[in-house]
Amino acid sequence: MSLVQISNYFLLFFLLIISCTTTTFTHSKSTLKPEEPCKHIVLYYHDILFNGTDLSNATSAQITNASTLGSNFGMMVIFDDPMTKDGHLHSPPAAKAQGFYFYDRKNAYNAWFAYTLIFNSTEYKGTLNVMGADPLPEKTRDLSVVGGTGDFFMTRGIVTFRTEEIQGDFYFRVRMDIKLYECY
Ligand SMILES: *[C@@H]1O[C@H](CO)[C@@H](O)[C@H](O)[C@H]1NC(C)=O
Ligand SMILES: *[C@@H]1O[C@H](CO)[C@@H](O)[C@H](O)[C@H]1NC(C)=O
Ligand SMILES: *[C@@H]1O[C@H](CO)[C@@H](O)[C@H](O)[C@H]1NC(C)=O
Ligand SMILES: *[C@@H]1O[C@H](CO)[C@@H](O)[C@H](O)[C@H]1NC(C)=O
Repeated sequence: MSLVQISNYFLLFFLLIISCTTTTFTHSKSTLKPEEPCKHIVLYYHDILFNGTDLSNATSAQITNASTLGSNFGMMVIFDDPMTKDGHLHSPPAAKAQGFYFYDRKNAYNAWFAYTLIFNSTEYKGTLNVMGADPLPEKTRDLSVVGGTGDFFMTRGIVTFRTEEIQGDFYFRVRMDIKLYECY
């Protein structure tokens, strides 16, 4: 075997390796398409902040005061909110959202959410755990579904937030598009 032949073999070998890795790479990329979740659930989140007197109606309460840094920085709210299938507050809840958000940006309204969606209906039994940043000025915000239990065993995905209505400091409604990409 001449030196030229040997180097040609090496070249062929490397080309083979490169083509193999490229195929694997493009393959794994194409299995997760953002527009093709294995499960898609749309629910509406209703948050009624306790104003000091509306005990029967409130679903959330402010537990720390904002600092003087601006944009509510430092204010934390704990919620036990109904999730409905349509935008109506008084529709029967399909799930509960239990967790908290706080404001964590000085010069713009930016919240950080961590909560569990609890399903206990004939349709679904189980939980989804969601966390992530919610930069309020953006029209849509993506948060992570970091896990699940029951009917959502070991799932992962994305929740897209769209604020639909704000009534002063006391009520807001967010459309949540829950897209799961791992379903077992
Ligand atoms: C709190 O909300 C309730 C119901 O919306 C209202 O009747 C009450 O006046 C409010 N209280 C304060 C202190 O704003
Ligand atoms: C409860 O809150 C809703 C939404 O803000 C309001 O329309 C309704 O009047 C409130 N009910 C009571 C009893 O405060
Ligand atoms: C928040 O501020 C109000 C009014 O200044 C005060 O009454 C309340 O105790 C404060 N709450 C906390 C958790 O610091
Ligand atoms: C779920 O619903 C069932 C039937 O309505 C009820 O018995 C059970 O207590 C509920 N579980 C929770 C954790 O709310």
